[in-house]
Amino acid sequence: MKKQILNTLSFSILLTLLPTIILGQQKNDKQHMDAFVTQLMSKMTLEEKLGQLNLLSSNANTGPFASKKYAEKLKDGSGGNIFGLVGTSSEINEKLKLAENSRLKIPVLSGLDIIHGFKTVFPIPLGLSCTWNMPLIEQTARVAAIEGSAAGYNWTFSPMLDITRDPRWGRVMEGSGEDPYFGSLVARSMVKGYQGDDLKNENSLMACLKHFGMYGAAEAGRDYNTTDMSRITMYQFYLPPYKAAVDAGVGSVMSSFNEVDGVPATANNWLLNDVLKKQWGFKGFVVTDYIAIYELMAHGVAADIKQAAELAINAGTDMDMVSEAFMATLKQSVKEGKVSMATVDAACRRVLEAKYKMGLFTNPYRNFDPGKATRVTLTPENKKVAKEAALQSMVLLENKSNTLPLKKNINIALVGPFANNKSEMFSMWSPNGDEGSVVTLYDGIKKINPNVNYAEGTQISNDSLLMNFAGWGFDQKEQKKLVDEAVTLAAKSDVVVAVLGETRGMSGEAHSMTNIALQDCQLELLKALKGTGKPVVLLITSGRPLIIQQALPYADAVIEMWRLGTESGNAVADVLFGDYNPSGKLTMTFPRSVGQIPIYYNHKNTGRPYAGERKRFFKSNYMDQTNEPLYPFGYGLSYTTFNYGKIQLSDTLLTGSNKTLTAEITVSNTGKYAGEETVQLYLNDPVASVTRPVKELKMFQKVFLQPGESKEIAFKISPEDLKFYNSQLKWDWESGKFNLYIGTNSKDVMKTAFVWNK
Ligand code: NOJ
Repeated sequence: MKKQILNTLSFSILLTLLPTIILGQQKNDKQHMDAFVTQLMSKMTLEEKLGQLNLLSSNANTGPFASKKYAEKLKDGSGGNIFGLVGTSSEINEKLKLAENSRLKIPVLSGLDIIHGFKTVFPIPLGLSCTWNMPLIEQTARVAAIEGSAAGYNWTFSPMLDITRDPRWGRVMEGSGEDPYFGSLVARSMVKGYQGDDLKNENSLMACLKHFGMYGAAEAGRDYNTTDMSRITMYQFYLPPYKAAVDAGVGSVMSSFNEVDGVPATANNWLLNDVLKKQWGFKGFVVTDYIAIYELMAHGVAADIKQAAELAINAGTDMDMVSEAFMATLKQSVKEGKVSMATVDAACRRVLEAKYKMGLFTNPYRNFDPGKATRVTLTPENKKVAKEAALQSMVLLENKSNTLPLKKNINIALVGPFANNKSEMFSMWSPNGDEGSVVTLYDGIKKINPNVNYAEGTQISNDSLLMNFAGWGFDQKEQKKLVDEAVTLAAKSDVVVAVLGETRGMSGEAHSMTNIALQDCQLELLKALKGTGKPVVLLITSGRPLIIQQALPYADAVIEMWRLGTESGNAVADVLFGDYNPSGKLTMTFPRSVGQIPIYYNHKNTGRPYAGERKRFFKSNYMDQTNEPLYPFGYGLSYTTFNYGKIQLSDTLLTGSNKTLTAEITVSNTGKYAGEETVQLYLNDPVASVTRPVKELKMFQKVFLQPGESKEIAFKISPEDLKFYNSQLKWDWESGKFNLYIGTNSKDVMKTAFVWNK
């Protein structure tokens, strides 16, 4: 008994002391790191310091050109970091070992774009975000880190946290859509997943948030284009996910290609020094995007490469990706006093600190152990995560007359160029994925129902400009033959499953499009298939919301499957046959036409709000199109139906900032299948000192319900949830009335209101 009391006592003492112990330990670590880096830097020449600021690229896979003679530069220390090395883990580690020939033998950062998995490929980030499942998103990043670190990398250029409102931009596939609150949750989960509990862990990857900042707002959705917006819009909508990653301890930040307020991000002192480093207290280092320093000349802010390098480092850029501008010119700039030695030192310190935090000085080849890469890669557990992620990423957009799920014993005509293709289940950003291990849709379906036959059905596109650009061909005769074959197959089957959309080469970096509708030749195939009178299930594979309004009359059910990765076929088959009830919800609005873009749910009301179809004139609307999107943010169907009760508030009039308001709602499964619903809560501040969005997502909960089951869902709201950036860019809330909405997506909601005064 005495012993037990003692144990309890010592445990509670330990608990009280724990924060002090941890703080003390952190202080010790920091002191040790400072002393170590200071001592190392005292030995370094200016050239050696500049070498640490130099990031080489071993190939030109993700940019216009590679670094010349990179091996020699690793050897002599003039290239302190490298990315894009390819080969076996032993080969990569041999390259990293070259740094041991340099005078100070400083270990090397080995980077790679590990964006949505490494060998085990997960759905593209936009797809993953539709899971609304943060622990799962974190788990995918963890698996990517385990596989990537064993292969010889210690740094990934992910997550991409650019808010996106324009699906013409090819890079929407790399992000998490249009909402800043949601994007911030994803940011945290991914940073935690990659970096693990401690950057020192051998299977951690240092994360790199990108692209700082506002890159997703490229005008007209054209990649690398100008962005221009007010500071209040930046703070309210675009900056929060980046800030969340910084708060989560992200090790590095990549500056973006675009300009911000008239100054390219890479040379933007306000953005990098003032906001990132001073206001947000970012302790890691800033790396440019690919040759972004060099591009300062084309932007028109630098006359030559020397001036470009000076602008960049003085603005807060610490590391130069591939331009080699720092290495080539900064020595002279320091001599001329255009760049201070203190500035170079500060940048060098940040890079060395990152290496220290990663434990590279004690073990430069942390996770290298011959054979390990094979042991930890593509394991059954990793594939299980990939399947779960694929299942939850799919969004059921239409399901007329309960076409889905399909019966398991019917004859299926599986049609489309993506339906029996391994490589097309990946994206532009999964070049390291193991294609051999991909389960095609055909194989996945066949495992459950052997009565499936395949026909290619169509070529990708008959758009001559696109064909010329992409170097593809289109043959009219061949097309007729493909369509005829598919129609013949459809006619003798019970159901058609058509898999249409974009190739992996139609979205991603530098893959912007003005026409994002389903390609004409694919639409024609769909019409012909529908003409057989058989039910048609349309599976869309794409890296962006496509314009599918014209396709809807020819499909009985529609699933957005994005690009699902390694486990594509297994996941799709489970959804088609009802072994998994789809639960994904859109994180990007689907427009009806390109003319509606940019389109997003959290828009402003304007002085002449859209008033529906009937009141057309002198309102903020189009003459030829509704303002309503095809599918709103948060939208996604299930094989079952959910009913929402009335919202019950714990109070409707509150005073003071130390209160909490509870909003409760009963959600019931009113259909025949068990299923998961994502219950979404939105707020609106109808009168404020600055205009506020019509709705803003503030929280959500996932709930799994058996048929007939109901659950009460409770949300706790505090004044923190009422805050916004005012004209002084102060994060604060204002007294008054608030509208509160809870529902199944951003449009279909129950509504109530409360008043909260300060
Ligand atoms: C350019 C891309 O913008 C960036 O996202 C990527 O990380 C780098 N290239 C390196 O590949």
